[in-house]
Amino acid sequence: FEIKRLVDQAFQTASLTAKEITALLAIDLTELDYLLEAADRKRSEICGEEVHLRAIIEFSSYCKQNCHYCGLRKDNQALKRYQLQKSEIIETAVMAAQLGYQTVVLQSGEDEHSAAEIAAIIRSIKTKTDLAITLSLGERELSEYKLWREAGADRYLLKHEIADQSLYSDYHPGMSFTNRINCLKELKKMGYQIGSGVIIDLPGQTPEILARDLLLCQELELDMLGSGPFIPHPETPLKNSKQGTVAMTLKFTALSRLLLPFAHIPATTALGTIDVEGRQKALQAGANVVMPNVTQGKYREQYQIYPDKICVNEEAGDCRQCIGGIINSLGRFVSTDHGHSMRKEFVK
Ligand code: SAM
Ligand code: SF4
Ligand code: FES
Repeated sequence: FEIKRLVDQAFQTASLTAKEITALLAIDLTELDYLLEAADRKRSEICGEEVHLRAIIEFSSYCKQNCHYCGLRKDNQALKRYQLQKSEIIETAVMAAQLGYQTVVLQSGEDEHSAAEIAAIIRSIKTKTDLAITLSLGERELSEYKLWREAGADRYLLKHEIADQSLYSDYHPGMSFTNRINCLKELKKMGYQIGSGVIIDLPGQTPEILARDLLLCQELELDMLGSGPFIPHPETPLKNSKQGTVAMTLKFTALSRLLLPFAHIPATTALGTIDVEGRQKALQAGANVVMPNVTQGKYREQYQIYPDKICVNEEAGDCRQCIGGIINSLGRFVSTDHGHSMRKEFVK
């Protein structure tokens, strides 16, 4: 009864206290449906039945950081690394546009690619296609973010991962939570549409911390908010930790929709990896975005953030068709527009 009241309040006001969010994140499976259905109704009201696709190009697996959960971390000597040539990245983007994608996401480890070269790639993609461009290259100098924005980048995706300073420091040696949040704020000031998000069920994470994550996302006025379950990678310090759950990921997805109604919310590949129906479930719990891989097949396996990632044996065209089928099977359709931010400052 109390749970229903809180869900109804979130639906109507998009506002809950940390304590109230914590209570909703702690509900058991018997009460889950009411929350997920409310989020699905809110998604339908705000986004309609269209689903935006973002084509991801994973262009480099080199990384100088050592995040404890990630297979691309510097100390993973077992990983064969690759970096795509500039021409390959541009060709892949052109191919994505030909497949009907409206957005391309350029993602990599924190490789030290030259900022000028990234800018040149952005300019070239913008000249050859009508694609919106999202960057997901980690923390860089503000001057570099500015250069890329001027070159035509539209959005930046930088998950804050966990809104607890102490756990953030434990999991990210040599990195600073304050700097990460500052990057997001500065990116927003530069006119980027900003995306952040979290890893669900990292060891030590509690519903109280996840509640703070959601309040932080509201405060940052995110345009996009993603959450994927933690999947232990055998070549990392967290190899023996417990995998994240579908239930907690869905609760977080649903609360993301209710508390940030105008955010774009992806049904993540990580959720599709731990549950064959994972992306479908998220699309019915508030999500309105899917991010299929368009990286060339031979590199897919080497971008091993976590093991058993889906789609490593497929090519871009296969994933485009597969995802179209999934979306249609839910009575939804693939959007034909860029899917820019739904926040009022971006709506023309
Ligand atoms: N290097 C950039 C960064 O960290 O922002 C972008 C690439 S990084 C591989 C993209 C995302 O992968 C991270 O934000 C993190 O949330 C996610 N990730 C890494 N390892 C993971 C794991 N073991 N399970 C689930 N998600 C993971
Ligand atoms: Fe590097 Fe990003 Fe993985 Fe951290 S999460 S190790 S920054 S690729
Ligand atoms: Fe890649 Fe289904 S999205 S095979």
